[in-house]
Amino acid sequence: MSTLTTSFGQPVPDNQNSLSAGPRGPLLLQDFHLIEKLAHFNRERIPERVVHAKGAGAYGSFRVTRDVTAWTKAAFLSGVGKETPVFLRFSTVGGEKGSADADRDPRGFAVKFYTEEGNYDLVGNNTPVFFLRDPLKFPDFIHTQKRNPATNLKDPVAMWDFFSLSPETMHQVTILFSDRGTPRGYRHMDGFSSHTFSWINAADERFWVKYHFKTRQGIQNLTAEQAVAMAGIDPDHATRDLHAAIEDGDFPAWTVSVQIMPEADAETYHLNPFDLTKVWPHGDYPLVEIGELVLNRNPENFFAETEQAAFSPASVVPGISFSPDKMLQGRLFAYADAHRYRLGGNYAQIPVNTPQGCPVHNYQRDGAMRVDGNGGGRPNYEPNSFGGPAQTGIPSEPPLRITGDAAHYDHRAGNDDYAQAGALFRLIGAEAQDRLMDNIAGSLIKTPLFIQERQVRHFMAADPAYGAGVAKRLGLTVAQAAE
Ligand code: HEM
Repeated sequence: MSTLTTSFGQPVPDNQNSLSAGPRGPLLLQDFHLIEKLAHFNRERIPERVVHAKGAGAYGSFRVTRDVTAWTKAAFLSGVGKETPVFLRFSTVGGEKGSADADRDPRGFAVKFYTEEGNYDLVGNNTPVFFLRDPLKFPDFIHTQKRNPATNLKDPVAMWDFFSLSPETMHQVTILFSDRGTPRGYRHMDGFSSHTFSWINAADERFWVKYHFKTRQGIQNLTAEQAVAMAGIDPDHATRDLHAAIEDGDFPAWTVSVQIMPEADAETYHLNPFDLTKVWPHGDYPLVEIGELVLNRNPENFFAETEQAAFSPASVVPGISFSPDKMLQGRLFAYADAHRYRLGGNYAQIPVNTPQGCPVHNYQRDGAMRVDGNGGGRPNYEPNSFGGPAQTGIPSEPPLRITGDAAHYDHRAGNDDYAQAGALFRLIGAEAQDRLMDNIAGSLIKTPLFIQERQVRHFMAADPAYGAGVAKRLGLTVAQAAE
């Protein structure tokens, strides 16, 4: 057995009894071990993620199964059979760190690829779309998912007030209240980039891509009743399920595909391909299978690895880049800013965030909790004459043509918020439609009549049967709903 020490390595003589003046006496300030133990304990908590606070992570690997070099020069995708280590964190969105895994919510699906050209983060969800198309609305939207400022209770009125005033939410609302809003566990759901990203090949041609991770465990969901029961029986059921499966050697896997759109198509495609509230119909851009992802190792320490993991959509590698999607552009700022606040300016040095496939050389120095030697005596400025690291000089991507006058353009003008929501409603079949409308009505009924009526009008616009079904469950007449 090893000897218990202080943080500075001195042996601790007694970890049961504090140093006191006499057996009943007050304690002495010179008991450094006691002071250190209490002081460190006081600092054990860091801010939880403002969204996606509850999560579970695992390590694994990604393997390329198809030659994709015609579309991207990314080194980790450069050959069939090539493997890249990954860390994946699943999460719920709105709840706090101790909230139930079974809550109705989208699920986060954040993958960190430790590539030889640096870390590539794909920070997606289990849904192919999102509620919004302008990042300016994200804090407002999240406030409606969190707690009421007066009561500290979850607030269906705020949620439906916002949804009914924001028709671009319709598609994602339809997914959220469907069976897919309560997955059976993290292993039994798909993942999506949701956003459009770009791939760039060696000839400097750009393609727009969307990623799809299809679960090989099969989609399984809880019914609304099962989810409510599960939240009481085992609030950590999805975390437990993932951990147990990996411990048992039953490694979960996903088939990875992309939809690929040549750059020029974006100008003429009938949808805005950078609108995060829309999918690209597979008939237009079919799935191209490119790889498989397997999770095969649990973290050894939840806080050190899963809690301190920092994912950012801005973390891309050569051959992969962004798109004009306004939501994505907003996210490119938000994540690293959150990490600096939540983990500190040197968060990249936390082992789970450190590149594994390549070294890091730059001129960043100092700051709180600098633990990597801080560049030693090497030059801390550039250019220099002493062999410091230099830029590649290779443009990371071809120029992107951008046109337009700067203005606050109405992101709702001329957008069809209903067609894809209606198509999804018609696709899922009668029984799933019934559950969807039951789930919606069960929540919407808790709001004032004017919000119910306003929201039902959106469902009507998506599909008359959708609107009528929700109206009926709310006890509204079709005339009321149609007004
Ligand atoms: C986490 C902001 C939209 C997926 C976060 C965090 C912030 C944030 C601040 C916490 C980061 C941290 O503390 O480490 C935003 C903003 C958005 C947005 C401003 C829109 C403008 C989205 C969308 C998706 C998404 C559209 C999915 C397609 C995630 C995931 C996490 C996360 C998966 C958790 C990452 C992890 O496991 O650590 N988001 N988000 N977010 N977000 Fe977003």
